[in-house]
Amino acid sequence: MTTYGSFPGTRPRRLRTSPVMRRMVAETRLHPADFILPAFVREGVAEPVPISSMPGVVQHTRDSLKKAAAEAVAAGVSGIMLFGVPEESKKDGVGTAGTDPDGILQVALRDVRAEVGDDLLVMSDLCLDEFTDHGHCGVLDDQGRVDNDATLERYAEMAQVQADAGAHVVGPSGMMDGQIGVIRDALDQIGRDDVAILAYTAKYASAFYGPFREAVGSSLQGDRRTYQQDPANLRESMRELELDLEEGADMVMVKPAGPYLDVLAKVADAVDVPVVAYQISGEYAMIEAAAEKGWIDRDKAILESLTGIRRAGARTVLTYWATEVAQQLNSAR
Ligand code: PBG
Repeated sequence: MTTYGSFPGTRPRRLRTSPVMRRMVAETRLHPADFILPAFVREGVAEPVPISSMPGVVQHTRDSLKKAAAEAVAAGVSGIMLFGVPEESKKDGVGTAGTDPDGILQVALRDVRAEVGDDLLVMSDLCLDEFTDHGHCGVLDDQGRVDNDATLERYAEMAQVQADAGAHVVGPSGMMDGQIGVIRDALDQIGRDDVAILAYTAKYASAFYGPFREAVGSSLQGDRRTYQQDPANLRESMRELELDLEEGADMVMVKPAGPYLDVLAKVADAVDVPVVAYQISGEYAMIEAAAEKGWIDRDKAILESLTGIRRAGARTVLTYWATEVAQQLNSAR
């Protein structure tokens, strides 16, 4: 037998010899329950509207959203995160439609809860950007700056309205200081200590949100750099993490996922609450676009990207491929 070096017994390749061997020693596995499906629901449309920068993803009608939720349940996905897209005429400076009990997000929460009951965790994006005419995640002061504390009042109300509409989990994504504490208090005040908070803890001002802005028909001009984090920073995420936990976050999220795996690994090392990662619209679009051009093996790239996110430390992943991948995992065994 040929040997190499002075350690002939050291042959890592022995553990890569066959599919069953590789399967046994795999340190990371994907399971349908690892996934949460983000979904868009648009007010006033009769048919689902395709999102051109996210092939395969649509703005749902109320009906098609219910079907998507039922499919997610059947596939064994853990949750659905809902984003509402209101009629353009309902947008205003303070995002009134976001707290209207008959606003599209609240209507969708009730629809989906009626469809899935407790078989799927129904989650709601808790942010104003889909509902404001300026597209920012908060309300503006008289100089046009995002007003942190005035926004917190809106978030408190939004949390209560979303809980009333049936959210099991709220997902504050606006990166306002103090948002978790204010939302926890608001929920507890109306006796909803059962509603969990999935905090968007480390959310970066990312160019990869581009396709999402089309998906929600965002009105944003400019950027969100005064509230979302600078991509250059890692230590800052640890500060955000500390505050969110103090304020009562039940789960914490890192977003985007792929370009921020170091942040994810560090957060996962530091806490004992569940860690979630959001594989965002741009991450989805890149793989779909390269696959469409025939430059990449789509299915393998999807699984590899998700495995990497899980390996870096995410317990759960939000991904637009949630149902598809769960179905694939189910039929693979
Ligand atoms: C804000 C929000 C955004 C995303 C989720 N929640 C957009 C933003 O911060 O600009 C992005 C998700 C994605 O890109 O898939 N409500």
